[in-house]
Amino acid sequence: MEGAKTNMCYNVLDRNVKDENLGERVAFYWEGNSPDHHMAITYSQLLGQVCRCANVLKHMGVRKGDRVAIYLPMIPELVYTMLACARIGAVHSIVVSAEIDIMVSQCSILVTADGVYRGEKWINLKQIADEALEKYEHTHTCCVLVLHYRRQPSVNLSPVVFPVVQTPWDAACDVCWDEVMGQVSEQCEPEWLDAEDPLFILYTSESTGKPKGVLHTVAGYLLYTSLTFKYVFDHQPDDVYWCTADIGWITGHSYITYGPLANGGTSVLFEGIPVHPHAGRFWEVIEKYRVTKFYTAPTLIGNVERTPLLTNPVTSCRYDLSSLRILGTVGEPINPEAWLWYYEVVGQKRCPVVDTFWQTETGGHVLTPLPAATPLKPGSAVRSMWLQVFRRPWPGIMRTVYGNQERFENTYFKKCPGFYVTGDGRIDGYYWITGRIDDMINVSGHLLTVAEAAVVSRPHTVKGECLYCFVTLKDCREFNRSLVDELKRQVREKIGPIATPDFIQNAPGLPKTRSGKIMRRVLRQIARNEKDLGDLSTLADPKVEEVLFSQRCETA
Ligand code: WTA
Repeated sequence: MEGAKTNMCYNVLDRNVKDENLGERVAFYWEGNSPDHHMAITYSQLLGQVCRCANVLKHMGVRKGDRVAIYLPMIPELVYTMLACARIGAVHSIVVSAEIDIMVSQCSILVTADGVYRGEKWINLKQIADEALEKYEHTHTCCVLVLHYRRQPSVNLSPVVFPVVQTPWDAACDVCWDEVMGQVSEQCEPEWLDAEDPLFILYTSESTGKPKGVLHTVAGYLLYTSLTFKYVFDHQPDDVYWCTADIGWITGHSYITYGPLANGGTSVLFEGIPVHPHAGRFWEVIEKYRVTKFYTAPTLIGNVERTPLLTNPVTSCRYDLSSLRILGTVGEPINPEAWLWYYEVVGQKRCPVVDTFWQTETGGHVLTPLPAATPLKPGSAVRSMWLQVFRRPWPGIMRTVYGNQERFENTYFKKCPGFYVTGDGRIDGYYWITGRIDDMINVSGHLLTVAEAAVVSRPHTVKGECLYCFVTLKDCREFNRSLVDELKRQVREKIGPIATPDFIQNAPGLPKTRSGKIMRRVLRQIARNEKDLGDLSTLADPKVEEVLFSQRCETA
C-alpha cells in the first residue's frame, strides 16, 4: 500500500463516530484496581479526549515522526495518548520498565503518571521515570499525568490502602496533565500519513536475548489487527470483549486498542490484577459487564485452575458466566489440562477456545483456529489462518528492528532463506507450539524440547549438557528426596531414560516476564550458579530469583 495516505486514529475514531454513527456506543468500560472505580467512555468522548491530548502534544513541540515514550498504567489516558500520537503522526513507544526502554528509544517526551496501585501495592511511576531520566544527558520534557481516582470524593479511601504519596516534581520540565488538557480544544485535524510511515516501536518482552525495538507501520497494521480481531473473535455489534493483557504488551496494542476500536467494538479496560481484592475478580468482572468474548493467557488460567476446587470461585459457581461466547488464549503454549479446564469450567463447553499463536513481530494472530469453524484440539494453535502466511509477508509483519535493519534480517530471514522464522517449534499437521527453539537442549546428541514447566540445561562433563529441572509443587505438597526420586522415575518410564533430569530443584515460584513468560535465561544461570543475572528489568517479581538461588541443587 506504499504511496497510499491514511490515518490510524481517523479510522478507529472519526470514521466510527461520523460514518458509522457509533458516537454514543461505549468504546471502553474502564474497571479500576478497586471494584469501586469504574467509568464508561463512548466513542465521541474518546475522540474528544484524544484530540485534546493530540493538541497538548503539538503544543509541547511533538511533530510527525517524533518519538513519544509512554509509561502509564492501564487507564483511559494510556489509550488517549497512543491514539493522540497516531493522530499527529508521532511514533509511540510504550515502556513497561522505564529503565531500559527510554534509553534506547530516545524519545523527547515521556508521558507518565504519579503512580498506580497494583492490588494493595503502590508503584511510584513518576519516581521510577525520574530515576531513569537522570541517567541521560539530553533533557526530556516530562508530561505528568495525575491519576484521577485518588481525587474521587465519592469513594471512601482508607488511609492504609491509599497513603498520601508525595510526587517528585520539577517545574522546569514537568507538566501537569489535567492543567494542559483543560487549556486545549477538542478539535484536531488528523495528519495524513503514508501507509508505510511508522506507527509505534515496541520492545519485545524478551525471555532470551536483549530486547529488540520492533517497528510497525500504519496501514498494514491497521488492516491486519482489524481483520484478525473481526474473524478470530467473530466480532458482533452487541459484544462486550475483554482482553486481560497489559497494553504495554503487543497483545494490548493489537487487541485492546487498535483491533477492537477499528471494528467499533466495546471492550473492558482493566487496571487491576486477578487476585485483588479477591481470587474471583476476573469472574466478577465478566459477570458485571456481561462479557461475551474473553481473551487471556495460560499463566492466568493455570493459576486459577490450580486453586483448590472448594475455594475456586469458578468451580463453586459463584459467578454467572453465561454471557461468554468465545474464549481466547495467547502468549505461551497452553497445556491440555488447562485447555480442558478453560473449555469445560469457564466456557461450560459452549464456547470455542481460540488458541492464538503470534508474536510482537507478526503484529497479529498467525496461527489460530477460527471459532466454530475449525475442529479444536486441546493445546494446539491449530494452523495458519491464511494459507502460506509464512511464505509471503502479511500486512501486519514488523518492518524492521528499530535502528538495526541488519539484526532484523539476521534474526528472522537467515535461518531459512525466503521464509520468516518465528523461532518456535512445532509437530504434526496441527501446530503444537513446543517452546522456543533457542530453549532446546542437546543431551548426548538427543534433542529434547523444553516441556511445560521449567527445564534448562547445565554443562555436564560426559554428556555435554544435562537436564536441570525446576518444579513448582501444588499447595501442601512437600518437596523431599523421595518425591525427587519419584519424579525421575516417572519421567524415565513415561518418556525414556534420556529425558531423566539430573537435577530437580524446588521452585516455589518461577521467574516470569510481566506477560507471563518463563525467563529460561535466568533459570539457566541459576542452574549454572552464575551470580550476575544481567538485565532483570522485564522480570515481574525480582524476589523469585533470590529464593531460587537459595534452594539450588549442588549435586544430582
Ligand atoms: C509464544 C505474544 C504457544 C511463542 C503475542 C512466541 C505462544 C512468543 C502462543 C511471542 C501460543 C505466543 N502458543 N506459544 N498460542 N502465543 N507464544 O512477542 O514462543 O510477547 O514466539 O507476543 O510467545 O511473544 P510476544
